[in-house]
Amino acid sequence: MYAYATHIDDLDALKTAVDKIAHRHVATRVLSEQYPIVGECLLQAIQDVLADAATTEVMTAWTEAYQVLAEIFINREQQIYQTVGH
Ligand code: HEM
Repeated sequence: MYAYATHIDDLDALKTAVDKIAHRHVATRVLSEQYPIVGECLLQAIQDVLADAATTEVMTAWTEAYQVLAEIFINREQQIYQTVGH
């Protein structure tokens, strides 16, 4: 997530990492419907750590950013699941 935030304006820089994580997710059978609950917990953790700095604006930005990254993973993992025939 930190690397993602760092490269938010140049997501191509993350391609190799996304691909590696997506393969790991498929190997451990992560499913698209698990992304919302993981996101909820992650966003809560971010909010806890940021405390007073977790303004509505900041939390809205992290929520949107998570959704975009989750969609990237879900799409890539869908492709890999189809390729490996599951
Ligand atoms: C945007 C959301 C997510 C990010 C950024 C993320 C990131 C990562 C990273 C960096 C790894 C380590 C990959 C490696 O070993 O090279 C990983 C592994 C893993 N992730 Fe995710 N993940 C996300 C969503 C999820 C979701 C929704 C699940 C569902 C429960 C999940 C379950 C796992 C599991 C089971 C592993 C393998 C752990 C192991 O190697 O023992 N992840 N993820």
